[in-house]
Amino acid sequence: MMMSDKKAALKEAQKVVGFIEKDALSADEKKLIHDESIDNFNNHVNPGWLEYRKSVSTDAAFIEWTDSVDHFEDLDGVQFIDCLGGFGIYTCGHRNPAILKTVQAQLSRYALHSQELVDPLRGYLAKITALSTPGDLQYCFFTNGGAEAIEMALKLARLATGGSWYISTVGAFHGKSMGAISMGGKGSYRQDYVPMIQQVQHVEYGNAQAMETAVKNLLTVGEKVAGVIIEAIQGEAGVIIPPPGYLTEVRAICDKYEVAMIVDEIQTGMGRCGTLWRVESEDVVPDIMTFGKAYGGGIMPITGIIARPKMWVDKLIENPWILGSPTFGGNPLACAAAIATFKYMLENDIPGLCKKRGDQFLEKLGELQKKYPTVLSAYRGAGLLICMEFPKAEIGYAVTKAMFARHVMTAGTLVNAKTVRIEPPAVLSDESVERVFTALEESFAEVKIEFGL
Ligand SMILES: Cc1ncc(COP(=O)(O)O)c(C=O)c1O
Repeated sequence: MMMSDKKAALKEAQKVVGFIEKDALSADEKKLIHDESIDNFNNHVNPGWLEYRKSVSTDAAFIEWTDSVDHFEDLDGVQFIDCLGGFGIYTCGHRNPAILKTVQAQLSRYALHSQELVDPLRGYLAKITALSTPGDLQYCFFTNGGAEAIEMALKLARLATGGSWYISTVGAFHGKSMGAISMGGKGSYRQDYVPMIQQVQHVEYGNAQAMETAVKNLLTVGEKVAGVIIEAIQGEAGVIIPPPGYLTEVRAICDKYEVAMIVDEIQTGMGRCGTLWRVESEDVVPDIMTFGKAYGGGIMPITGIIARPKMWVDKLIENPWILGSPTFGGNPLACAAAIATFKYMLENDIPGLCKKRGDQFLEKLGELQKKYPTVLSAYRGAGLLICMEFPKAEIGYAVTKAMFARHVMTAGTLVNAKTVRIEPPAVLSDESVERVFTALEESFAEVKIEFGL
C-alpha cells in the first residue's frame, strides 16, 4: 500500500506543471510521459482501460497530447483523424479557434462564479438556448455532464406533474448515474445496481402504441406517470432512427395523459443530425429537453435542460434550490464556450454542414456495401450521426482496429457491439474525408480476407 507522501506529491505536481507549460518537450521527456502514463493508468486509474484500448490499438502506446480541427495528435506528432468525435463532442472541431478565443477572453476576466451575485453569462446562454429551441421552451438549468442533466429532467418531471413513474425505451442510453441508468435500456449496465429507481417501465423504441399502453395501464391501476423519456434517435443503441411520426405520436400521448415528454438531445442536438435539434424534423416541442456534448463547443463541459413554462411550477420558483444546486453548473467559462458555440454554429450553418457531410458518408457507405456485402450488413444515419452494422461484434472490432492502424479513430456504440459509429467533426477537411474513405475501403478488404467472408 502506498503511504501518504506530500513531498512526493508536490514534486510530481511540479514536474507535470512543467510539462504542461512547456512549448516543446525533449525526447527524454516524451519517453518519460509515455512510460509514466501507462504506469499511472495501471496503478491509479484502472488497468482495465489499457487492456480495453489494446483491443483497438494493439499496444495502447499512443498517448494523446494535442488536437486541432479534425484530429488528435500523440506525443510524437502522429495524427489520428477523429471519426469518433468524443462520442459527439466535437461537432465544431477540436479547439475551434473562434470558440477558444472567447473562452480565453473570459478566462482572463473570471473563470468561476461567486455563487451569490448575478452571473450574466448564465442568463445570456439561457436566453440564446431558448431562442434556438422550438416552441415555448424557455427555462434552462445548467449542469456539468449528460447524466446529471438527465437527473434534473427526471426530477423536474416529478416536481411538475406530481407523478412518480417513468416510461423509457429498450436500448436507451441516458448516462450512468443512478437515475439515468435506471432509464437505460441495456441489462449489463443496470444489473449490478438494482434496486434503482423502481418506478420505470421500458417499452420498445419506435413503437408509440407500446408507449401508450404502458402509460394507460399504469394510470388504470392508480399509478401516476411523471414522464416518458426518449432519445430523438437512439445513439448508443446503434443509431436507431424511429419511424417517421414517432415523436409526434409520443407528443400526442403525453398531451392526452398529461405526462411530461422528455426528449434527450444530448447526442442528437447541436447540429449533429443535420438540424440544430433533431425534434425539428417533426416540429415537436418536448416539455423538457436535455442537451450536452457538443453544447460546450468541444472546449468546455456543459450540459443542461430546457423546459416549457408549464413545467416551471410555483414550487420551483418559490424555492430555486429544490431541483439542484451544482457548484460548477453553468459556470462563466462553460457558458462563454456555449455562447461562442451558438455563434459559430449559426454563423457557419454547422447543422447544414453535418447534413452535407453526412450525405457524402452515406453515399460512400452505399458504394462500399455493394462491394463488400458480406462485411457491411447495414448502415444508417442522420447528418453526422452514422453507424455501420456488421454481421457480428468481432467483425466490427476488426474494422475498428484496421481503421485505427490507418490512423482513423472510430468506436463501437455502447449498447450494440455489432455497430460502429462514424461521428466526426462537421469541419472535417476534404482531404481527411478522402483519407477516411480510403481507410474504410482498405479495412473492409482486409477484414473480408481475415474472416473469410
Ligand atoms: C443520449 C445520451 N444521453 C445521455 C448521455 C450521458 O452523457 P454523459 O456521458 O455526459 O453523462 C449520453 C452519452 O453518451 C447520451 O448519448
